[in-house]
Amino acid sequence: MTRTIAFFNQKGGTAKTTSTLNVASALAERGKKVLAIDLDPQASLTMAAGADVESLDLSVYDLLLDDDVTINQVIVGTNLAGVDLAPSHPDLAAAELELLNVLERERQLDYRLRSLDLGAYDYVLIDSPPALNIISVNILVATQELIIPIEPHPLSLMVLDRLFMTIDKIRRLNPGLQVLGFLPTKVHANSRLAIDMMATLREAFSDYPLLPAIPLSVKSAESIAGRTSVLEYMPRSPVATAYRQVAAWIEEGPPADDMLIAIQPSEALHV
Ligand SMILES: Nc1ncnc2c1ncn2[C@@H]1O[C@H](COP(=O)(O)OP(=O)(O)OP(=O)(O)O)[C@@H](O)[C@H]1O
Ligand SMILES: [Mg+2]
Repeated sequence: MTRTIAFFNQKGGTAKTTSTLNVASALAERGKKVLAIDLDPQASLTMAAGADVESLDLSVYDLLLDDDVTINQVIVGTNLAGVDLAPSHPDLAAAELELLNVLERERQLDYRLRSLDLGAYDYVLIDSPPALNIISVNILVATQELIIPIEPHPLSLMVLDRLFMTIDKIRRLNPGLQVLGFLPTKVHANSRLAIDMMATLREAFSDYPLLPAIPLSVKSAESIAGRTSVLEYMPRSPVATAYRQVAAWIEEGPPADDMLIAIQPSEALHV
């Protein structure tokens, strides 16, 4: 059974793209076949995975707006072993307006994903734009599960109420939508702010677990410069290890001795 997981947060720069890329790589390392879908007109994931945006024949823009285009026609290979990609293109920015005239415009991605050969992939991972727009709504309607990457910063908490209001509304269209949890990213191991913020997050949103934290590391940007994942670029780095833990969490659920549940300053965040 294919699992569809979107990395979603309308706030910019929370490591949605970095996490989609690295979790895809980590799941592939575990022998899973992964399709990553880039639904951000910035096409960051597309470039990071090694595709050349300018030479693409088709992108998710065509997928959403042309009834004759199927997802299988859009998929390309990537630099990451075991990971395929449905690439984005800057044209996707225009889809917002063009979808206005389309019947059931919020269900277009959902319909298109249904034509995917379900046996071909264990996971479909979706990278989202930093927005709550019609593309985002398409993602929330199409996905089964959500991971919310979040930076330990006070402003990050302030946008969450709006995000959960949107999720609640979407449940009318996608009743099975499940929030897997928050993924703390760019976590400075010994930052008091990060520790406090995670505690606040756990208190305010106690229904949703925290996934293993991703440490702040320049290696994740370096790997993107090399157009690959940090798991392939620096397999033994703490950030690669953390993304492997996230993949294990996704597959197996929280470990019994979940360090982040019993949060201990400096220890719990020391990944
Ligand atoms: N663990 C990390 N440590 C340090 N920097 C990181 C880490 N993860 C991501 N970054 C950097 O943070 C910035 C934002 O990351 P990314 O592009 O993945 O976020 P995003 O949520 O996809 O952004 P957008 O909202 O613009 O799509 C990038 O410069 C990226 O290299
Ligand atoms: Mg992004």
